[in-house]
Amino acid sequence: MSSPLQVLGGITAEQFLNEYWQKKPLLVRNAMPEIINILEPDDVKELALEETVSARLIKQKDKDPNQWSVKSSPLIKGDFQKLPKLWTLLVQAVDHYSFDLAELWKKFPFIPQWRRDDIMVSYAPKGGSVGQHFDFYDVFLVQGYGHRRWQLGQMCDENTAFVTGQPLKLLPEMDVHFDEVLAPGDLLYVPPGLSHYGVAEDDCLTFSFGFRMPNVATMMDRVSDRFADNALLKNPVIDIMRDQVGQIGEMTSNELAYLKAKVLDQLQHSSDFEHALVALMSEPKYPDNIPEPDEIEADDLREILSTGYELCLEPASRLLYTQQDDQLLFWANGEACCIDDRFAPLLKALADGQVLPFDAQFDHDEFLEDLAQLLNDSVLMLLPPEEE
Ligand code: SIN
Ligand code: CO
Repeated sequence: MSSPLQVLGGITAEQFLNEYWQKKPLLVRNAMPEIINILEPDDVKELALEETVSARLIKQKDKDPNQWSVKSSPLIKGDFQKLPKLWTLLVQAVDHYSFDLAELWKKFPFIPQWRRDDIMVSYAPKGGSVGQHFDFYDVFLVQGYGHRRWQLGQMCDENTAFVTGQPLKLLPEMDVHFDEVLAPGDLLYVPPGLSHYGVAEDDCLTFSFGFRMPNVATMMDRVSDRFADNALLKNPVIDIMRDQVGQIGEMTSNELAYLKAKVLDQLQHSSDFEHALVALMSEPKYPDNIPEPDEIEADDLREILSTGYELCLEPASRLLYTQQDDQLLFWANGEACCIDDRFAPLLKALADGQVLPFDAQFDHDEFLEDLAQLLNDSVLMLLPPEEE
C-alpha cells in the first residue's frame, strides 16, 4: 500500500497516517472528482423528508445571526417554507441510500471499516454554516457541489468553553490559521479537536466522511453485559485465606484486592472481552436504514449461480471479523455469525470490501445456506447483472 494516492494529494497512506492522521489537517485539491454530482441539492432536500432518515435543519435568525435553532427529523415540507437567509440542512448516513457514495469509502482503504461512522451531507445556500465548532472525531470533508470556504483554528478539548444559550456547541472565537475555498472534488482532512468553520460560498453540498471510536463507558457497559450473561460466573467466589481476625465493620484493602483480582482475571483470560468489543463495533449506527429484503432460500440462490450476479456488503450493515489461531470469527450488526469454516475466506473477502462474482466458488450446500441467512439478515446484498 505504498503507492501515492490521489485522494491524499500524491502522498502514500503510510505518510498520511504518520504525519497527518489524528494530528494535523490536509487540503487536497481534486482529491475525489468521482463525488461531483452524485447528489444535487434537491436530492438532499428530498432525502431529508424520508421517514427513516436522520436529518437536522439548522437556522440562524435574520435579525440576529448569532441566534441559532435546530430542528431534528422527522422534517416536513413546511420546514423548508419561509426559511431565513442562513440555514443548513444536515443529512446523516447518505451512504446508506446511495450505493455510488458508499463505494467512495474505498478511497480510504488505509482506515479499517470498524472506524467508519457514516457519510453526512450538508446543504447550505450562500452564507450558510453550522458555526465555529470542533468534533471529537476524524473527518474528511469533501466538496460535492458548489463551493465552501473553510477556516481552521486552534485545537480544542473537553475543557473548551462553548457559547452559552445556543442549541449547538459553538466556539466563541477561532484563531484562524487556514482559510481556503474548496471546489467540487476538493478534500480537507480535519483531525479530532481542531476547530473549523465552513461557510457556503454559493448553493453547496459538503460530504463528511466521519470516523468513530468507542468511549470507555460504552465499552465497559458492553463488556460487563457479556460477562453478566455467563452462567459459569454466577457462583460466589471462594473466600480469601483468613489467618487473622480483624474489625468486623471493615472491608480490608486485601479483601478488595482479592475480589478485584477475580474480576480482572476474567477480563484478562476470557475471550468474552474481545468478543464484546467486536460485537459493539459491528453494531449498525442506524438500524432503521437496514433494508428488509425479500426472503431468499438456498435453492433460489442455486438457480442464479453463475448468471452474472455479484455479492457485496449491504452499505447500511457492518460485518467484521477477528483472526485467532488461524480461525476467522465473524460479527454482523452486533451479533456473532455462525458460518461453515470453509465459507470463511469468502466472507472475509466480502468483509474486506470486495465485490465477488456469485459463481461456482459458492456452489456448496452449506455456503448457500449461510449466504441465504446473510442475505435475509441484509448483511450482504446481491447485485443483479448489468444490463447490456
Ligand atoms: C458542514 O458540512 O457544514 C459541517 C461539517 C462539519 O463541520 O463537520
Ligand atoms: Co465539524
